[in-house]
Amino acid sequence: MIRVGIYGATGYTGIELAKVFARHPQVEIKFATSDSYAGKKLSDAFPCHFDIPLIAHDAAPLNEIDVAFLALPHGASTDYAKRVLDAGARVIDLSADFRLHDAAVYKKFYGLEHHAPELLLQAVYGLPELHREQIKQSKLIANPGCYPTSVILGLAPLWRANATNDTIIVDSKSGVSGAGRKPTQTVHFVEVNENLSPYNIGRVHRHLSEMEQELKAVNPKASLIFSPHLLPVSRGILSTMYVRLGDADGWDENRLRQLYTETYCHEPFMRILPSGQFATLTHSNYTNYCTISIHHVAEVNQAIICSSIDNLIKGASGQAVQNMNLMFGLDETMGLL
Ligand SMILES: NC(=O)c1ccc[n+]([C@@H]2O[C@H](COP(=O)([O-])OP(=O)(O)OC[C@H]3O[C@@H](n4cnc5c(N)ncnc54)[C@H](OP(=O)(O)O)[C@@H]3O)[C@@H](O)[C@H]2O)c1
Repeated sequence: MIRVGIYGATGYTGIELAKVFARHPQVEIKFATSDSYAGKKLSDAFPCHFDIPLIAHDAAPLNEIDVAFLALPHGASTDYAKRVLDAGARVIDLSADFRLHDAAVYKKFYGLEHHAPELLLQAVYGLPELHREQIKQSKLIANPGCYPTSVILGLAPLWRANATNDTIIVDSKSGVSGAGRKPTQTVHFVEVNENLSPYNIGRVHRHLSEMEQELKAVNPKASLIFSPHLLPVSRGILSTMYVRLGDADGWDENRLRQLYTETYCHEPFMRILPSGQFATLTHSNYTNYCTISIHHVAEVNQAIICSSIDNLIKGASGQAVQNMNLMFGLDETMGLL
């Protein structure tokens, strides 16, 4: 059995971890933390059937675990990651604290000095479809952001094939759980319900930094415009990406489809839809799948790629468990199908 600890168990991703672990035959939860609910149970903090006792973050018995999942806000994860690593256990961090290789880029996008820049080069960006072999060897996984998971998986085949040098337009929509559990005015029911709101559009959203980091590792010339929107649903992300293809390269829908099918044919959580179907939230919600649809607009030689995930599963806790399975030599799909 793998002995796990959950930091931040009362947040949306922490609760989703508890749900995945309940189905996982090789996991034993050794502790779950929350400062505001310490001394209570998870079922006191959220309507669920998990009577897992909650303890304060600082009371976590680190000598009892093999791996800690940090479901904490960015900025808060770094110090707990150091403690866990010093105690000899591994870390899967769901926050943005270890996703960027460069502390200066972290400061630019997150407005914080990084407390452990020396760990940034050790951390592996936990997207199994791109970095599976490094994940298996890693002690510190930076679990990707939710938008970036949908976007990078949707674009990786085209980047690798050098199919474009143009700026790619990414239009993403997210359910409200993507903003976490802490209430703010922008996620108030009245502001969200029967509405659709763009926010941080252009090149300012924090997730742009990790998307371009991964993109530029494959194709240094490529760049993105990223326009996220808040959708009045609880969960799910749909990213629609507009890619101007190289004219000399003879692209058509069949060739695009072949590229995506060949890239992802051995991936357990990637689904490419047949011609004429479009990815929707329903294809992926409540699963660890990423669903992709492909459309070619011949008149302007553009690909339109739609990519859907569940932000709390493939976009967070499911992917974190997929990473754990790889790190501990288990079947990658264990607990996730
Ligand atoms: N929501 C998503 O779709 C999603 C997807 C991918 C990644 N992520 C990332 O995953 C992390 C967790 O997200 P979430 O949506 O689960 O957040 P959340 O719902 O806001 O929960 C955050 C958790 O951290 C604890 N916490 C809050 N402030 C803290 C602080 N300053 N120090 C230590 N603990 C603190 C909270 O509990 P107590 O206050 O009781 O301790 C709670 O358990 C974030 O970094 C987020 O960006 C989220």
